[in-house]
Amino acid sequence: MKAVAVFPAQREVRVIDHPDPKLASATQARMRVLDVGVCGTDRDIVSFQYGTPPPGCDYLVIGHESLSEVVEIGAQVSKVKPGDLVVMTVRRPCPHPSCVACRKGRQDFCYTGDFTERGIKEHHGYMTEFVVEEERYLNPVPRELREIAVLVEPLTIAEKSLEQIWTVQGRLPWECPDGDPGRDPSPDPEQSLVRCRHAVVLGAGPVGILGAMALKVEGFDVSVYSRSPDHEEKNKLLNAIGARYIAAETHSTEEMAKTVGSIDLVYEATGSSSFAFDVLKYLGPNAVFVFTGVPGHKGPIPVDTDDIMRNMVLSNQLVVGSVNAPPQAFQSAIKHLGIFVQRWPDTIRSVITGRFPIEHALDALRSQAGGVKNVVTVAS
Ligand code: BGC
Ligand code: ZN
Repeated sequence: MKAVAVFPAQREVRVIDHPDPKLASATQARMRVLDVGVCGTDRDIVSFQYGTPPPGCDYLVIGHESLSEVVEIGAQVSKVKPGDLVVMTVRRPCPHPSCVACRKGRQDFCYTGDFTERGIKEHHGYMTEFVVEEERYLNPVPRELREIAVLVEPLTIAEKSLEQIWTVQGRLPWECPDGDPGRDPSPDPEQSLVRCRHAVVLGAGPVGILGAMALKVEGFDVSVYSRSPDHEEKNKLLNAIGARYIAAETHSTEEMAKTVGSIDLVYEATGSSSFAFDVLKYLGPNAVFVFTGVPGHKGPIPVDTDDIMRNMVLSNQLVVGSVNAPPQAFQSAIKHLGIFVQRWPDTIRSVITGRFPIEHALDALRSQAGGVKNVVTVAS
C-alpha cells in the first residue's frame, strides 16, 4: 500500500510501497486512513531536522494528525466497531517499570524520554492507507464531525494546555470579581468565571487559531498577536469568533499589551523564542504563560532577564511548557470541535485551506503560503 516516507540518511522524501498491516492481537483494530493533517513538525521532519525511523528501518512513515475509519476489529475490542470514525493519539509509553507517568497512561509526561511517537519518533505514522492500533489509543468521533475531525489532534495541544492552566491557576482566586465561584468553568461566555481574564494567543497558525477558539468557548477575552503577513484573512477569521487580531507588523509588544489590558494568560503557538520572550515581560499579576512551540536552534539573543525575574517574583507569575496530549485531551478536543461547528460553522471549515491526494502529499508539505492547514486526503 502507499505511504509517505522520509529517508533521513538519504535525505529523501517520497511515496513508497509499505506493507499492509494485519491485526496481531484481539485488542487491536484495523483502520482505513481518511485524512492526515500536516503541521510544522512534519515540515521539520521532511527537512531532516527532526524525526527518527523505527529501529532497524531506514525510513519513517510520517503523519500524526489523522482521521480514519475502523474496518476490522479484534475479538476483545468493544469501544469501536467497523464503520466508526476514530482519531488516534500520537505518543506511546516507554517500557520502563520505573516511569510512573507511562505506567499510568500519561506518556505525555514520560520521565525517561524513551517514549515513541507515531509519525515522529521511532514508530511509523498515519500517512498511509491502512493502520493497525490498540483499542486504547483510539478516540471515537461522531459522524457529524467527518469534515473537520482531522483538526482534533492539533486542537489537543490547546486542550492539554487548558488542563494545565486550570490545574495551576487553582493555586489562587482567579474568578472575576463578581463571578460566582460555584459555577461550571465552561458555560456561555456572558456567564463565564473568567470573562474578565485576558488571554493572548501568540501565532495565528492552526494551533493558535484552534487555541483561540477553545479559549473563547471557555469564556476568556481573547486576543491573537501574530506576525503572519495575511492580515486581512486572519483579521476576518478571528473577528468571526469574537477574538481580537493584533498584527506584530503594526503593533510593538508594548502596544499589544496596552491594547489587551492586564495579560492573565499567554498561549504560545509560534515556536519563536524571541517573539515569546518579548511578550514574557508584559505579563500581568498572577499570570500563566504556556509554551507549546518547539523552536529550532537560531542562536542566542539578548533578553532582559532582570526585568523578567523581578516581574515573575513580584507578580507570582508562572511559565509552563506543554507537549503532546493524553486521551482526555482528545475527548475535550472532540467536544470542543462539536461546539465550534455549532457556533462558527464557516470559520472552522475555513481552517482547512488545502486538500491533496496522497500522490501529491509532497505539495501539501511544501505549500503553505497564506494557507492555514493542509490535509492529505488518503481515502474518502
Ligand atoms: C505533536 C505532538 C508531539 C510533538 C513533539 C507535535 O507536532 O502534535 O504529539 O508530542 O509534536 O514531537
Ligand atoms: Zn502536529
